[in-house]
Amino acid sequence: MTRRDRWAQQLMRNPLLAPVYEHVYRPTLAWTLMGFDLAHVRQERAQTVAALRLAPGDAVLDVACGPGLFTKAFAEAVSPSGIAVGIDMSAPMLARARTANAHPRAAYVFADATDQPFPDDAFDAVNCYAALYLIPDPWAAFEEMCRVLRPGGRIALMSSRATQRTWIAPAQRWATGMSGLKMFGEDEFTSALAEAGFTEISQEFHGVAQYVAATAP
Ligand SMILES: C[S@@+](CC[C@H](N)C(=O)[O-])C[C@H]1O[C@@H](n2cnc3c(N)ncnc32)[C@H](O)[C@@H]1O
Repeated sequence: MTRRDRWAQQLMRNPLLAPVYEHVYRPTLAWTLMGFDLAHVRQERAQTVAALRLAPGDAVLDVACGPGLFTKAFAEAVSPSGIAVGIDMSAPMLARARTANAHPRAAYVFADATDQPFPDDAFDAVNCYAALYLIPDPWAAFEEMCRVLRPGGRIALMSSRATQRTWIAPAQRWATGMSGLKMFGEDEFTSALAEAGFTEISQEFHGVAQYVAATAP
């Protein structure tokens, strides 16, 4: 892990961030980075539940769950008999998830996205939002998500999108290089999913964010 990678990770582990993440930090950042589209930010959880096609009884994994805002929405969708598991490597984020987003059908586990403590094909759906751009080896996390997802299961990813505007690209590269955050090309996730045999691949762009969903082979 480089010094820049460490900076982004340390921010996520700062105990001052977890209490303000869900209601201040994330909405503000999402609103500004996603083209000031408030309607989209408000519908993000419902749209993700729909993209994952969650149904009662499903087992769903939320990778890098932070304080559990999506995990709780997933737990509601798979109730009364399913389970939503959120994994993260920030103890303050997990502590916040267990209080602010507790749910009888949600479990929060300290685990590394790149080395997940689950057997193959364990989940009906896997989600990873706003984290691949700060994980030093995002493709190791991607492979783990594919491994734990059952055949026919759904995956949903939200991450960064490198700008297509050539006059902004150098400034974006400089800013993301300084911060340690990675920008992904528009085709990177869709190509990786297609190569891994996924079908029904969909993609949406909102500002500098990209949303990708697909069905496992
Ligand atoms: C910006 S938050 C995203 C939280 C949530 N998914 C959301 O969309 O709001 C990024 C999270 O990724 C977690 N994270 C970073 N690297 C990780 C890794 N290798 N394994 C698990 N979680 C990780 C951080 O601790 C942080 O809670």
